[in-house]
Amino acid sequence: MTGMSRRTLLLGGLGLGAAALTGCTSAPAAGPVPSASGPMPTLPPATPRPGQRIVEQVLTAKPVTLDLGGPTVPTWAYGDTAPGPLVRATAGDFLRIRLDNQLPADTTIHWHGIRLHNKADGVPGMTQDPVPAGGSFTYEFTAPDPGTYFFHPHVGVQLDRGLYAPLIVDDPNEPGAYDAEWVVVLDDWVDGTGRTPDDVLAKLIADGGPAPSGGMGGMGGMGGMDHGGHGGGNAPQPWGDAGDVTYPYFLINGRVPTAPATFEAKPGQRVRIRLINAASDTIFTVALGGHRLTVTHSDGFPVEPQEVDALYLGMGERYDALVTLDDGVFPLVARPFGKTEGGQGLALVRTGSGQAPGPDVSPAELAGRILLATDLRPHESVRLPSRSPDATAHMSLEGSMSPYRWGINGAPFGQNQPLTVREGQRLRLNVMNMTMMTHPLHLHGHTFALPSGLRKDTVLLAPMQSMALELDADNVGDWMVHCHNIYHAEAGMMIGLLYRG
Ligand code: C2O
Ligand code: CU
Repeated sequence: MTGMSRRTLLLGGLGLGAAALTGCTSAPAAGPVPSASGPMPTLPPATPRPGQRIVEQVLTAKPVTLDLGGPTVPTWAYGDTAPGPLVRATAGDFLRIRLDNQLPADTTIHWHGIRLHNKADGVPGMTQDPVPAGGSFTYEFTAPDPGTYFFHPHVGVQLDRGLYAPLIVDDPNEPGAYDAEWVVVLDDWVDGTGRTPDDVLAKLIADGGPAPSGGMGGMGGMGGMDHGGHGGGNAPQPWGDAGDVTYPYFLINGRVPTAPATFEAKPGQRVRIRLINAASDTIFTVALGGHRLTVTHSDGFPVEPQEVDALYLGMGERYDALVTLDDGVFPLVARPFGKTEGGQGLALVRTGSGQAPGPDVSPAELAGRILLATDLRPHESVRLPSRSPDATAHMSLEGSMSPYRWGINGAPFGQNQPLTVREGQRLRLNVMNMTMMTHPLHLHGHTFALPSGLRKDTVLLAPMQSMALELDADNVGDWMVHCHNIYHAEAGMMIGLLYRG
């Protein structure tokens, strides 16, 4: 079968998704289709129902020395690798995951993107006490929606160590019409190279200089205009200035590009690639040399498939793509957006003989059509029912590099007024990025809809961009909304979204 006819078949299969919703299980199995039941309508329970399948796992957060494929770095990780161990469940399963904290610091785990019970969300001071050094905490929750997720601490800038790992929730109705599945985790790496992420944050704050007196009056407006430097160049710059930190390495699945992870398959095989950006300060452009990618899911939720040359992944975003492989050795490249130092992320795809491309390979696809989330449309099965909002909240993303201070709605987290919502409401969030940097905005415990209807939990907002996000308030609790640049978040770019009677 040729690549083209496979692709045609795939698109045809996805077109049948709506028919499959009526319970037709004999539809041609031609690609991932959304869960037959769609997203679970009610709040996922905090305790297992009788007969519910239980997935149990223990994660040990601990100091470790990692070999990144040449450089060795002292860091913190879940077990002996970064990314840490895959957690895998089927939608509707109950997860019982014990965190053993062997770090010399408090920590927690946040299950990024999962519409889980609030008590399991992992936000210290909001949903739980931090897990102290030597302590343990058991996270218990139902994973209601299939998709590609990940998990990481919600304490300080620990995410920028090796503390991250994929979480895959399989669709029980997934036809699985692909030959292989690869989980591809992107990261920017600094820990153990003479600096820790805590050092990086301290330096950002020190270099930003003192805050002007007069409280938060300086926040907002065009803050960050001074920081147009390294994002420059002549290429189209949809994200303007995209990062604050200079990293020595960019990793794919924990490897530097001189010793890349290698995925093996046979020519003609169709592969589902699950891309996760676990970086703290880096937007990547991802491409597979010699191939186009058919994007099927965004942040776990199905989309109308689109074929692209490359795609942008902001911090915390995930995309799934299908690709039919050619014969040879191909570079899977994660090019850091707007960063000129530290090279790039690289993995290899090998289906035949041939010379492996070098660490600086630049596939032509990087200059082709690059997908923006706003180009995608949701699969019909996951569209929010149309309804006018019951409530509107405004979110103004503000801040600057000098002083290094970020906030939402006029103040950093802790000083800003939390947003509130009532259970059952359709909430519109009018988000305005009032800065000259791009921010990946992430909401806990829910998946919002972009104006196109696209369902996501993390969305990139370019400098001065506004976007109306809508969500159904169906998961009672106290939740975070924040920038997933972990340095911005830690410097204050977070706000609470609290359910109130
Ligand atoms: Cu992945 Cu609150 O974050
Ligand atoms: Cu930010």
